[in-house]
Amino acid sequence: MQRKLEYKYPRELTWLSGVVLLGLTLGFAFTGYLLPWDMKAYWATQVGVNIADTIPIVGTPLADLVRGGPILTGATLGRFFAIHMLLLPALTGGLIGLHLLLVNIQGVSAADGLVVETNMGETLQQIPNVPEAAADSNSRFVPGSRPVGNTGFNAPAQPGGNGNVDTGADRL
Ligand code: HEM
Repeated sequence: MQRKLEYKYPRELTWLSGVVLLGLTLGFAFTGYLLPWDMKAYWATQVGVNIADTIPIVGTPLADLVRGGPILTGATLGRFFAIHMLLLPALTGGLIGLHLLLVNIQGVSAADGLVVETNMGETLQQIPNVPEAAADSNSRFVPGSRPVGNTGFNAPAQPGGNGNVDTGADRL
């Protein structure tokens, strides 16, 4: 069976939402840095916005939009504060929800030969999703649900069987 890589079908959206989340985090860092409104904050943001300004065609309108005008003023501070405190948290919260929902629905992709048998007898190449794993008393997703001394939370599937995961080790 061909390995289902993390960024490929059916997990493209999970991957993309993760990349956007990374971008949003950088957005938090950039907009937050202006908020102390001291010399370092002012001039660092000046550098960042001026870099955006150099992009051909879209650069200057983008820089003006971000600054709220042709130069960096109190209006820029207001914008950055709103972006940092309202827009980015809302987008980040929504995307984290989507990201986790997708991981929950699709499960985590598993290595070659690792297959899961569902109750319906179907075999999937993935580590069980959270509800399945939580229902499994030997689950590695639920802290404390494994016997003391086991590697426990988020440990990789064990050769020779692990809960309802068929490692396929006996067929290798
Ligand atoms: C990944 C998430 C975040 C990153 C990377 C980030 C980054 C930053 C950075 C670099 C600063 C400048 C700190 C300084 O130089 O003193 C800052 C300031 C600030 N951040 Fe964030 N931030 C994040 C999330 C948030 C959230 C969720 C909130 C609130 C909803 C928030 C509220 C603030 C406030 C009020 C300041 C101003 C603090 C001050 O001027 O003393 N930040 N942030």
